[in-house]
Parts: sequence; structure tokens; C-alpha cells
Amino acid sequence: MSLLNLAIVGATGAVGTEILAVLEQRNFPVGRLLPLASPRSAGKTLSFRGEPVTVQALEENAFEGVDLALFSAGATRSREFTPSALRSGAIVVDNSSAFRMDPEIPLVVPEINGANIREDQRLIANPNCAAIILCMALAPLSSLGRIERVIVSTYQSTSGAGALAMEELLEQTRGYLANEEPAPEAFQWPIAFNLFSHNSEVEENGYNGEENKLMTETQKILGRPDLKISATCVRVPVLRAHCESVNVQFDRPVELTSVRDALAEFDGVELCDDRDSNHFPMPRECTGEDNVRVGRIRHDQSTPNAVELFVSGDQLLKGAALNAVQVAELMAPRVR
Ligand SMILES: NC(=O)c1ccc[n+]([C@@H]2O[C@H](COP(=O)([O-])OP(=O)(O)OC[C@H]3O[C@@H](n4cnc5c(N)ncnc54)[C@H](OP(=O)(O)O)[C@@H]3O)[C@@H](O)[C@H]2O)c1
Repeated sequence: MSLLNLAIVGATGAVGTEILAVLEQRNFPVGRLLPLASPRSAGKTLSFRGEPVTVQALEENAFEGVDLALFSAGATRSREFTPSALRSGAIVVDNSSAFRMDPEIPLVVPEINGANIREDQRLIANPNCAAIILCMALAPLSSLGRIERVIVSTYQSTSGAGALAMEELLEQTRGYLANEEPAPEAFQWPIAFNLFSHNSEVEENGYNGEENKLMTETQKILGRPDLKISATCVRVPVLRAHCESVNVQFDRPVELTSVRDALAEFDGVELCDDRDSNHFPMPRECTGEDNVRVGRIRHDQSTPNAVELFVSGDQLLKGAALNAVQVAELMAPRVR
């Protein structure tokens, strides 16, 4: 494949930094790499494939000659600048929530629905990190029966809220051990030695923004607008990788061996289900890993036809950067 010119919008952020690493690791055919960020970072130097690259400020005319633009700088920037990237002829992969629920825009996890992208679609939305991780566990199970209902509770790491939130956990932990009063900035409440309901706003239906994203995006990715789903999202004092406790109810009884087999065979999923040694998915072990791990597989003894799972995945990788680069790989042959 010929080399492509890539713009990374939000290159200095938690997701942008990982995108650069994933592009290197997967040997993506990059010609020119253009890191874009806020004017605060203009002139800063990043490293790509051992070479220094200079960050430029995001501007309307930044996308000339760009083949693929990967946006990770928040929904406001995506709404403002994706039109100019598309006008310049670039294909856009957007990590923000700006376009995810637009019926005309595909919301893609390549292993699940990558094959459904139409030829004319040049803006692809990358789903919410918790939704990607949940769908990676649910998609393989769809072959065992119709999934009727999902109840999910999340344990979401601080890096899900960006690079500064990660720093805040480290600083508050040091401060707590030195008996200092925490002064929360990235989050409303102290995060060290604490946990709290997800920091997104509570909406009219009583769910917070993250819970609503997780529910509606899961329905869209799985192509199941009728799927009954209820979510509780919680922020925990973990640096990186989200966990989810998931109850999946089917329309028929399912064997645990079939659940294990279906998960083990699915690309991007790894079984981690060792009852004897009490070894199940953990954020520390999932950090830096591409695969989403699934374990604690058991029947829900309170109701027929349901199973319990515990899932963990690096939300900066499969939940964001890796998924975005996989989408870019799918779209690369469509660059004009
Ligand atoms: N963190 C995750 O796990 C995760 C997962 C999935 C999706 N996402 C989405 O990815 C996006 C980035 O998240 P993040 O966690 O990487 O946040 P972050 O660490 O706070 O990074 C934000 C990035 O956006 C840039 N930016 C901010 N304001 C800008 C402006 N006015 N013009 C141009 N660039 C600007 C920042 O540049 P400066 O460094 O110059 O400020 C930085 O590169 C968000 O839309 C988020 O919802 C995040």
C-alpha cells in the first residue's frame, strides 16, 4: 500500500499519545505525520518512529494534503473541524461523542461491524470506550442465542477522563499519604482512595451521560435497537483500563462451555477465567494489552437463561487508540 498522510488531532492527549504508539507498533503506512493540538502545544516536539515531529495548532486549513485524520480532541473540536478535514478530501475517524448516534454515521468496532461501512461513508465514529469493551464481550455471545437483556456496572479508570485526570490520581495519592487535603480539579470529588458515580452529568432519565452513551451505543454497534440494557458507571482510583460486571440474559439456556468457547474464538477477546487460582480480568494486567479479557463466567442462579461475566480492557487501546487505528486500516484502501 502507498504511504498515507495522517493528521492526529489531539496528538498531545492521553488518546493521541497512544495513537502515535499504535501506528508505530502496527507499522501503519504513514508518509507525513501531522500532530495537531491546541495553540498551547504548538511548537512542542513529539517523537514518531524515532524522529522528532512538531505539534501544530489546529486550524481550518491544517488538513491540506491529509489522507486520513484521526480526531481525539473532544466533541467541540470535532464538530468545528471535521467539516474542513472532509472538504480537504480526508477520511475522518472521530474519537469524540459528536457524531456517534447520527444514523448516517457508522459507529464501528472492526471485529463486530466493520464490514458494514458503506463505500460513500468517509466519516467514521469510534465508540465510547466502555461501549467498545462491553460489545467485545457481548458480540461473541450473540451466536449462542438472542440476547434479551444486559445489566452492566462499570469500574472506570481515571485515564478515561484524560491525561490530567491520571495526574490527579497520582498527586492525590501522594498527598493522601502525606496527610494533605485533596484539591480536586479534573474531578469534582477526591479520586484517591475513593470512588464515585461517573463524572458526566445526570440527564433527564436519571442515568448520567456515560451510562446513556454506553446503553445507546451498545444497541447501535450490535445492530440491536431493541436490546434491553441498563448501566451504572462508576469512576475508580485506577490509572488505566476499565472493568465491567455484566449480566447477560438470553432467550434460552446456554452452556458455560459454549460461552467460554465463543469468547475464546473471537478476535480481540482473551479468556481469563481460572477459578482455582482466583485469576480473573484485572486492570493492571490489561494495561498495554490489545485484547479485552473476559472471565468470572458463571450462571446467574437467580434467574434462568442468564450468565455473569467480568470484563477488563485497556480503554486507551481497544477503547480508543487501537480501535481508531484498526478503523483507519479498514479505510486506508478507500483513500482517493
Ligand atoms: N481517554 C479515554 O480513555 C478516551 C476513550 C475514548 C474516547 N476518548 C475521547 O478522545 C478525546 C480526547 O480524550 P483524551 O482522554 O485524550 O483527552 P486529553 O488527554 O485531555 O487530551 C485532549 C487533547 O485535545 C487537545 N485539545 C484541547 N483543546 C483543544 C483545542 N482548542 N484545539 C485543538 N486541540 C485541543 C489537547 O491539546 P493540548 O495538549 O494542547 O491541550 C490534547 O491533545 C475526547 O473526545 C474523549 O472523549 C477518550
